[in-house]
Amino acid sequence: MAQERRGEWGSRLGFILAAAGSAVGLGNVWKFPYITGENGGGLFVIIYLICIAFVGLPIMIGEVMLGRMTQRAPVGAFTKLAGETSPWRGVGWIGVAAGFVILSYYSVVAGWALDYTLIAARGEMSSGDPAAMAERFGEVAGDGLGATLWHVAFMGLSVAIVIGGVQKGVEIAARVLMPLLFAMFVALLIYATRLEGFSRGFEFVFGFHTDKLGPGSVLEALGHSFFTLSVGMGAMLTYGSYLKRDDDIVGASVAIALLDTAVALLACLVLFPITFTYGMEPAAGPSLVFTNIPMAFAQLPGSTIWAVTFFLLLVFAALTSAISLLEVTASYFIDERGWSRSVAVPVCGAAIVLLGIPSALTASSETFGAGMEASFIGMSWFDLFDYVSSNWMLPLCGLGISVFAAWRLGDPERRAQFEAGSKLGRIAGLYLTWLGVLRWLVPVGIGLIMLHALGVFG
Ligand code: PHE
Repeated sequence: MAQERRGEWGSRLGFILAAAGSAVGLGNVWKFPYITGENGGGLFVIIYLICIAFVGLPIMIGEVMLGRMTQRAPVGAFTKLAGETSPWRGVGWIGVAAGFVILSYYSVVAGWALDYTLIAARGEMSSGDPAAMAERFGEVAGDGLGATLWHVAFMGLSVAIVIGGVQKGVEIAARVLMPLLFAMFVALLIYATRLEGFSRGFEFVFGFHTDKLGPGSVLEALGHSFFTLSVGMGAMLTYGSYLKRDDDIVGASVAIALLDTAVALLACLVLFPITFTYGMEPAAGPSLVFTNIPMAFAQLPGSTIWAVTFFLLLVFAALTSAISLLEVTASYFIDERGWSRSVAVPVCGAAIVLLGIPSALTASSETFGAGMEASFIGMSWFDLFDYVSSNWMLPLCGLGISVFAAWRLGDPERRAQFEAGSKLGRIAGLYLTWLGVLRWLVPVGIGLIMLHALGVFG
């Protein structure tokens, strides 16, 4: 195996920024609001927050730890700890496969955002009419060839950054753009609080209502908690492999989870007031952010600048996530097969481009809004890829990671990893609580939710 010197983060903040850049993305701004809308808000949001705190965050700590201990990407990490022929390597495989599948359709959505940036720049988004906005989205997503070309363009950008290597590419992109995105949302929130529909929007997100909560909803909330934190496929493991021995894993993971959750809730608190103010549909599906945000901008002076900035930031948020997805798939070939970075990255990128074409072609506007009720067979490629990867592959791989970290790692070392450089990690009882959660709560919880979704409990 040709060993190039392994990259390391340039600063303590480097890991947090890059990992937060991976976590915060289309999952927060595009997907979370739309699935919240489809599942009726309220209780769905509460279940999601519980999943983040008690499943996603504990697994993130374990995942980053496995990365730092082994200095490998997912498959290599399990090979190193469990052996060449161990079935545990399968967990790493699911993660790498999930990376391919997720990025294939993720890049299609990011492609729409790229397209929207240019549409906004041409000033074609200031009509302020909900029907015109919906039609616009139908044109963008329904044009298979156009969507494919934008998907290719977005993958090209991702490949270019990942070839540059960890420190130069990923860290710089995250350092500059994350705070900007956050600031933009805070500004939008101030705008949203002045809307007539703000209190209804707020009630929709935080009120307690169960009406639209279907059997698949809990699985959806669980799957999304993995998706949004970038946990359960080895992205955090791979980023953790570039950490130094005395970096604070617990503190960083908590910070990332808080930031990620803040952006997701902000997005909802901006989008739903707009929805109710202009009589739009909360369960509009994947078109939600693309139709509602331009509606808000149309009312503001300087709408073109606002809209261009927003969609550009969305593209960058997607880019810092896509980078981590691509890094996982490429790292497998770099670490395990001895490929050079400049070969592995474009080859993986090209494979993902091909895999994403069916999604670009089938994500036409008619399939939208079908929601979770859509039968397995009735789903488009796009929906199917999303459903299988985030609701099944991520939780399964996450389950493997947590069981391995909690039951297979030996104790003095695991505890030392947990506490290294961390004030938080040394709080009395926290280590044992975390271990207990990973050992019992996570496997039982994921198991029950999956059985429930499969209809085992009637
Ligand atoms: N967390 C990213 C988002 O919310 C998506 C992602 C999933 C990235 C899995 C990496 C791994 O957009």
